[in-house]
Amino acid sequence: MYKIIDGKELAAKMRADIKKDVEKYTKENGRQIGLAVVLAGDNPASQVYVRNKIKACEEVGIKSYAYYLDGGVTQAELEKLLHTLAEDKNIDGILVQLPLPKHLDSEKALRIIPTEKDVDGFSADNTGKLCQGKESIVACTPNGVMKMLESCNIDICGKRAVVVGRSNIVGKPMAMLLLNADATVTVCHSKTENLKEECLNADIIVAAIGKAKFITADMVKEGAVVIDVGMNRDENGKLCGDVDFESVKEKCSYITPVPGGVGPMTITMLMYNTCLSVMRSER
Ligand code: GUN
Repeated sequence: MYKIIDGKELAAKMRADIKKDVEKYTKENGRQIGLAVVLAGDNPASQVYVRNKIKACEEVGIKSYAYYLDGGVTQAELEKLLHTLAEDKNIDGILVQLPLPKHLDSEKALRIIPTEKDVDGFSADNTGKLCQGKESIVACTPNGVMKMLESCNIDICGKRAVVVGRSNIVGKPMAMLLLNADATVTVCHSKTENLKEECLNADIIVAAIGKAKFITADMVKEGAVVIDVGMNRDENGKLCGDVDFESVKEKCSYITPVPGGVGPMTITMLMYNTCLSVMRSER
């Protein structure tokens, strides 16, 4: 019988703990932790994410500073803002919602964010440290997945983990985290020739492909742990993941649902990273 890993429940528990830590910090330091959230343009999905990030800040007691930039903002204007935020003592974390409008060079802009304020963990410095197994700020979604595995005491050491997807935001850092936790890791992607066989070998599958119900029951080993990072719409417009949940669940020991799985963890990990960054800078 499979067990569902409830991301909503774990996220709520973590947020309650974060809230306590934030309260303690605010009281002891006479200042609020500050997170700057930068959104350029009117991408509807980004608007929803940003709204939810600001809501999460309110919930845990972090002060959010929202910057809504016109879609036509120039590279120079964006960089000027990021330089100001980088210098601002009230700002502990800076988040630039991606994707940025196409005319902007996001890599160049993100390089302005100091490592200790890079609460998304996207900088070369933070990703490099992660690769080397050193202390770093880790991208929110894969870090949230690790917390979910931990919360269920799922054994990672020595297990075969297959990450499907190789994005900089999820797939690559996910693979590194699993590797650092002593899994034997395979990263699969759109050019992988024997994807089904690779998945069938896996004790743990992390699906981060961006294709509705892509992982089907015939690709999953009996007793596998299946983590679904996907957020798609099915043929009826209903929210669904990268995993065909209804058929795959019967094969699994653990599985995450969509919605209510990895999704709620991502924003919680942003709050977590913001606090962690502040606490570390105090050491
Ligand atoms: N766009 C999609 N996911 C993310 C994320 O985790 N952080 C940021 N900044 N942008 C995103």
